[in-house]
Amino acid sequence: MKIIKLNAIDSTNTYLKQLAKETQLPNPTIVVAKRQFAGRGQMGNGWLSKEGQSLTFSVFQAFDKLQIERQFWVSMAVSLAILKALQSLNVPKLSIKWPNDILSANKKIGGILIENVLEGSNVKHAIIGIGLNVNDTDFTKLPQASSLKLQTGENFQLEEVLDTILKNVFKNLKNLSAADFSEMKRNYENNLFRKEKVSVFETPERLRFNGIITGVSDIGELLVETENDPLQKFQMKEVKLIY
Ligand code: BTN
Repeated sequence: MKIIKLNAIDSTNTYLKQLAKETQLPNPTIVVAKRQFAGRGQMGNGWLSKEGQSLTFSVFQAFDKLQIERQFWVSMAVSLAILKALQSLNVPKLSIKWPNDILSANKKIGGILIENVLEGSNVKHAIIGIGLNVNDTDFTKLPQASSLKLQTGENFQLEEVLDTILKNVFKNLKNLSAADFSEMKRNYENNLFRKEKVSVFETPERLRFNGIITGVSDIGELLVETENDPLQKFQMKEVKLIY
């Protein structure tokens, strides 16, 4: 395992992706940045973080024959690992907002951006970027966001939180090819935000509709029961949960 510590970088994901292109990286390799000035989030969004108060890091993980259809396994394994790590730090009311936002008491405290590099029908390696709000307290511009400190009332040592998360992430990723998929999926679904509750969804055309999240498909689509269809499947760009 190799850890690269940077003072400042545009995005740890972009940096690590480029490094993986140019060199043969040890598996796994981690890049941690104190300050990230152009952090990237899902769906082309940005990711804001404050120096010294939050964690921004990326993990390079190579896989041995992980089929493309199983990309979602990585997403589940990583979100469940973060949940377990945060549970051990006594962060309350944790859940996963599909596909992999980490919530505490319905507020987003962490996000994951996974970028897979494919080779033939397999995932060769993944760049797994994790952003976690740790000791930040000012979210006036992001009312649905929060931090470990706000949720627990405690200050955390960034290094300690990072260490706990990495341990759990590697434990889950190491066992990924041998993992019991149904058990992992059950665990993921049991922690899914707003599962079995009537929720409001929005399409990219801004059409809103009601539905009930019933789970996820084997390839990670969100399963929603709607008035017209008891088993509607959505991919990431197709729907947004309004909450
Ligand atoms: C999201 O919720 O939209 C995903 C956010 C992921 C942010 C992390 S911070 C470290 C890594 N580098 C990036 O540029 N993004 C990820």
